[in-house]
Amino acid sequence: MALLERLQDRSAKVGVIGLGYVGLSLVREFARAGYRIIGVDIDESKIRQLQDGKSYVMDVPSEEIGKWIETGQLEVASDYDRVRDMDCVSICVPTPLRAKSKDPDLSYVLDAVVAIREHLHRSQLVILESTTFPGTTTEVIQPILEESGLVAGRDFYLAFSPERVDPGNSSYRTRNIPKIVGGVSAECVRHAEALYENCLEQVVAVSSTDVAEMVKLLENTFRTVNIGLVNEFALLCSKLNIDVWEVIEAASTKPFGFMPFYPGPGLGGHCIPVDPHYLSWKAKVNGFHPKLIDAAVQVNQEMPGHIVRRVREVLKPLKKELRGSKILIVGVAYKRNTDDVRESPAIEIIELLKQEGAEVGFSDPFVAQLSENGTRLSSRPLDEDALAGADCVLIVTDHSSVDYELVARHAAVVVDTRNALKDIPGEHIHRL
Ligand SMILES: NC(=O)c1ccc[n+]([C@@H]2O[C@H](COP(=O)([O-])OP(=O)(O)OC[C@H]3O[C@@H](n4cnc5c(N)ncnc54)[C@H](O)[C@@H]3O)[C@@H](O)[C@H]2O)c1
Repeated sequence: MALLERLQDRSAKVGVIGLGYVGLSLVREFARAGYRIIGVDIDESKIRQLQDGKSYVMDVPSEEIGKWIETGQLEVASDYDRVRDMDCVSICVPTPLRAKSKDPDLSYVLDAVVAIREHLHRSQLVILESTTFPGTTTEVIQPILEESGLVAGRDFYLAFSPERVDPGNSSYRTRNIPKIVGGVSAECVRHAEALYENCLEQVVAVSSTDVAEMVKLLENTFRTVNIGLVNEFALLCSKLNIDVWEVIEAASTKPFGFMPFYPGPGLGGHCIPVDPHYLSWKAKVNGFHPKLIDAAVQVNQEMPGHIVRRVREVLKPLKKELRGSKILIVGVAYKRNTDDVRESPAIEIIELLKQEGAEVGFSDPFVAQLSENGTRLSSRPLDEDALAGADCVLIVTDHSSVDYELVARHAAVVVDTRNALKDIPGEHIHRL
């Protein structure tokens, strides 16, 4: 039976390479649609956990993983031999930045594609889901896969489909976020569409992989630029003694032409702080220097330093300095209601505070330990003792389970970077 029919009747075996946030969420949708799945991840501890029926991704329940493993619907492995059994291969590996240059680091994608090439066979469908710069699929991946002697669009199918999942978002999950698909030929798109149409609510085909790659970068750069704009507004409002939160709330009453974004302690996560660099890099390679994007990135990058200066300012009237002061950080995850600390601004804030000689502790209901860039701290319970014992409580992440009344009641002074204490009065509360 041809692949298209096997995709349509769900007898095709789908593979997912990279079983992290994105890959495991995708596994979930494939499994719920009735496909048999083979997952591959080089992290053996993740493979062991999955084999034991344990999920390490908050949005994917362990019971579901356990059920699929038990029935054999989901098989997982830490080597690539099983790629030969896959009819489709979705690549969901990381696309970070190089530490010093901040240029795209495609090494994970390249490792995965080289390993897939060894097992590539006719009629296989390969889809890249990782976020990357336009041109990656046709200029980087296609030539590597074609070294197998097979030709994309003729012998196998190749597509790009950006993952748009938003971890922790209970309204929008992989299933009900429209799926963009671009292929290197019309047949490639048709096959990728057939796969996703069975599991996701809406599939949006675009004319090329370049367009699909650029869609994702536009979405995330849009967020970066707007957050940069509102962070700049926050800094300006603070100079003018205007409440930026009230300004945003009032502006949001406009029924058209305005969409609220909120200031904060800086960008975090695997996407928003990273993706604009992919775009800027590609732009500069082509002799185009994006001004607006680079300016927004800079404003956002300066926020952790600004927050630390705010803490210093609020301590001054209390005749205290940062050196020797106890600062309790509430929330270290990069955004609310998640345990993800990747690129979290809390990490830089902690480092800056420590450089200034402050004694830093944190409390986060989702994060038990923080060990990033040489910083090793354990979360402490957010109780009266912890709050009253701090010279300043600094709210970096506004998890919804935190008792903010308790924070306001017992803290000597609070710097609130998220407006988490909205509606709670008190001269000791300092909003961004
Ligand atoms: N996390 C998000 O919210 C999100 C949303 C949309 C898009 N994305 C994009 O999706 C991609 C994956 O992100 P993520 O958050 O799932 O990352 P992640 O770090 O959570 O997961 C990636 C997984 O890939 C595995 N891996 C690394 N190299 C591998 C290889 N060569 N072969 C097999 N497995 C390998 C890692 O062990 C890890 O388990 C990135 O490009 C990211 O930008 C992420």
